[in-house]
Amino acid sequence: MSPLLWWRDAVIYQVYPRSFADADGDGMGDLRGITSRLDHLVELGVDALWMSPFYPSPQHDAGYDVADYRDVDPRFGTLADFDKLMAAAKERGLRVIVDLVPNHTSSDHAWFQEALAAGPGSHARDRYHFRKGFGVDGELPPNGWQSVFGGPAWTRVADGEWYLHLFDTSQPDLNWDLPEVRAMFEDVLRFWLDRGVDGFRVDVAHGLIKETGLPDWTAAQVPITSPGAEHRTPPMWDQDGVHEVYRSWRRILDSYPGDRMMVGEAWVAPAERLARYVRPDEMNQAFNFNYLMAPWTAADQREAIESSLAGVEPVGAICTWVLSNHDVVRHASRLGFPPGHSTQGGIGVDDPQPDEALGLRRARAATLLMLSLPGSAYLYQGEELGLPEHTTLPDAVRQDPTWTRSGHEVRGRDGCRVPIPWEADAPSYGFGPGAGAWLPQPADWARFAADRERGVPGSTMSMYVEALRLRRANGLGRGTLTWTDAAWNEAPDAVDFRNGAVRVITNFGAAPIPLPPGEVLLASGDLAADGGLPPDTTAWLRA
Ligand code: GLC
Repeated sequence: MSPLLWWRDAVIYQVYPRSFADADGDGMGDLRGITSRLDHLVELGVDALWMSPFYPSPQHDAGYDVADYRDVDPRFGTLADFDKLMAAAKERGLRVIVDLVPNHTSSDHAWFQEALAAGPGSHARDRYHFRKGFGVDGELPPNGWQSVFGGPAWTRVADGEWYLHLFDTSQPDLNWDLPEVRAMFEDVLRFWLDRGVDGFRVDVAHGLIKETGLPDWTAAQVPITSPGAEHRTPPMWDQDGVHEVYRSWRRILDSYPGDRMMVGEAWVAPAERLARYVRPDEMNQAFNFNYLMAPWTAADQREAIESSLAGVEPVGAICTWVLSNHDVVRHASRLGFPPGHSTQGGIGVDDPQPDEALGLRRARAATLLMLSLPGSAYLYQGEELGLPEHTTLPDAVRQDPTWTRSGHEVRGRDGCRVPIPWEADAPSYGFGPGAGAWLPQPADWARFAADRERGVPGSTMSMYVEALRLRRANGLGRGTLTWTDAAWNEAPDAVDFRNGAVRVITNFGAAPIPLPPGEVLLASGDLAADGGLPPDTTAWLRA
């Protein structure tokens, strides 16, 4: 394997620009803020950062509604700020991945504005999915497709036509059958590659192509789509045609020097189906959401690990691992509920609340388990501080379109997007020079501030630093997993395997389990007095 393929074992840190660091004090993070905090990433020891969208956008879906793919939103800075960020990252040996949102544009995009003005039958309308409705007067939508954020996936415009939006009304889906749409994105790729980016995270990678004729589909949207026994593949997801798009992009990436990469956000199961996105001439990586969603039991975790590794093997790709991102409840809170409790719609003040101590203990154990697995791992800003979800955010401040589109039934994703704490005693915990933040931070977050954890033995941040150091030193990302023959690998209690010289054991049971003799390199929590591994704890051993 070429040592140059940096992404094969990379640890990639997701920066959510709105909430990472605010240099200009307007309460929203920005590119200069990110640049000013890059040394934190160096200190952690990650290989790369991926930035969620910072492009011009009306921000109806926090920037995943892009109005111009080749510029920076003034809220986040300028192209010159982007270039400075790139230079500062390169100086520190950090790779940079940007987000690409090809499934839909913002309704503010020039193309959609042109389509509205040009009217039915025009070429401009052809760039999107405009259709006549049903009913006497076309008053019924063209089909029963539902939006991921709730409500119908169709909205009617003044002249009577309807347009498709799998997400918010402000995110019209593009028509990828049109060569012009493909050409536009190829230019966008080149634009950012020319500015030096190392890769792209491809948003909604399983959605670009819709089944011809847009056949009806009335089932509710589920997060992970799979062709079940009695169901065919939903007509809006995981269509065969998407793969040709990624082949063409791969050719572009490969025409640039350095190992440029793509990682797909494809909510697709089972693992063999996801593996189709990472065939040798397509994407380099795909997010492993099956792993993220696996319940906290030994059997489920073993199954998720095994099926993930087996899924990519036939195509020669690597696995990725992820526990948190800007779309799901942070794992320090998610794991604070009994297995089987769903946190999928977010958490509000009147919902059952997680057990914070249990959640953090499990989150640390989950992280150590994840960072020992072969392949590439993704971290979400703040998880290195043990940061929980903001679970009592006032509904009045929610900004996720899910909240309004679901008729205030689904809380949505704001709770994991709250600006992160840097300094315990500064206004907005050092997020920015102003007092405010675009989402209010909980009053008790000083204890998670980076300056409280930096260099403190036993802190979550110290655990991440040490784990990343040991992962690198032992080549875990490029290793091979072998299950040990320990009896509990058959039982419900533990996950136990070797990766090279390191043995990894996580205890999912209710009582401590004995550790084999050998040096404990790192543990996610204190060991029992007799040296046993307590419940909800992971240990790395040289044994
Ligand atoms: C992806 C993004 C999510 C966004 C959606 C629509 O799932 O991760 O944040 O809302 O796409 O672009």
